[in-house]
Amino acid sequence: MSEKVCTGQVCIVTGANSGIGYHTAKGLAEKGATVVMVVRNMDKGEIAMAEIKQESGSSSIYLMHCDVSDIASVDRFTDAFKERFMCLNVLINNAGAAFSKRHETEVGFEKTIATNYLGMFRLTHNLLPTLRETSPSRVINISSGMHKTGKINFDDIMMEKGYGSMKQYANSKLIVTTYTYALARRIVGTGVTANVVEPGFVATNLGTNMGGLRDRIAFAIVRPIQTSAEKGAETSIWAATASELEKVSGKTFAKKREASSADIAHDEEVQDKLWDWTLITLRGQPD
Ligand SMILES: NC(=O)c1ccc[n+]([C@@H]2O[C@H](COP(=O)([O-])OP(=O)(O)OC[C@H]3O[C@@H](n4cnc5c(N)ncnc54)[C@H](OP(=O)(O)O)[C@@H]3O)[C@@H](O)[C@H]2O)c1
Repeated sequence: MSEKVCTGQVCIVTGANSGIGYHTAKGLAEKGATVVMVVRNMDKGEIAMAEIKQESGSSSIYLMHCDVSDIASVDRFTDAFKERFMCLNVLINNAGAAFSKRHETEVGFEKTIATNYLGMFRLTHNLLPTLRETSPSRVINISSGMHKTGKINFDDIMMEKGYGSMKQYANSKLIVTTYTYALARRIVGTGVTANVVEPGFVATNLGTNMGGLRDRIAFAIVRPIQTSAEKGAETSIWAATASELEKVSGKTFAKKREASSADIAHDEEVQDKLWDWTLITLRGQPD
C-alpha cells in the first residue's frame, strides 16, 4: 500500500469475527466508519469481513491478524497497523475468552489474564501515540457486569492456586475496569478518552467455547434469557460514536447509559498498584 489510510473514522475492533465484536464492526461499517477487524483466525475473519462488506455495503473494511494473548503478536499487529494507517479514532478492545482449565501462554502468563487484559494493555499503549495524534479519539474496553464478583489478588493474579474458570474470568474483568479508570486518569487533557462497556448477558460463542461440561451446561441453561449479539453490540457502537460522549472519560456504560462499577475499581491506590504490576509483568517482553 503506497498511501497510508486516514479516511472516515478509523475504528479498530478486536475479536471482530464473531459475537459482539462482529456486530460492533458491522454497526460501525453501517455508520460509515473505516473498520479494522482484528482477528486471530484469518480464515474465519475473511468470511466475517465478506459478510459485513456485503451487508453494510461498505468497502472500507480491513482485516488484520493479532492473537491478543501473545505480546509478540500484539507488537507485530500494532507495527503493521501503524505502517498502513495514519489515524485511529476509536480502539475497541473487545476480544475476550474464558477457559475451563488453567492454561499458560508460551511466556508463562495465565491465559485468561493474557487474553482479556495483558494484550489489551500492550495494544492500547502501542497505539496511544496514534490515538493522541488523531484526537479527539476513544479507547473502549469491554468488561462485564461479572467484574463485581471479581477480586484482584496481587499475590496470585495468574491464579496458580485454586484456579476457577468463572472466578478468573470475573477477576480479569475487574482488572479491565480498574485499568480503564487508571488509564483515563493518565490521559486527561490529551483528547483521548477511555471508557468501559458492559454488553449485558449476550448469546455468543463465549462459554460454548469452553471445554468443561459443567460450564457448557450452565451456559446452555441461561441461553434463553440472553440477548442477541446484535443487541449486545449496541452499547459499544454508541460509546464509539455518540457525540455527547466525546469528552466523557473514566466511565462504565451498559444499555447505552452510565453504569456503576465495583468500588475497588475506583480506588486509585489499587489502580496504581495494578499499573505497576502490569509494567513489571510485561517487562522483558519484546518491545
Ligand atoms: N457474551 C456475554 O454475555 C458477555 C458479557 C459480558 C462481556 N462479554 C465480553 O464481550 C467480549 C466479546 O465476547 P463475545 O461474547 O462476543 O464472545 P465470542 O463470540 O466468543 O467472541 C470473542 C471474540 O474474541 C476473539 N478472541 C478470543 N481470544 C482471542 C485472542 N487470543 N486473540 C484475538 N482474538 C481473540 C474470538 O476469536 P475466535 O473466534 O477466534 O475465538 C472472538 O472473535 C468479550 O470481551 C467478553 O468477555 C461478553
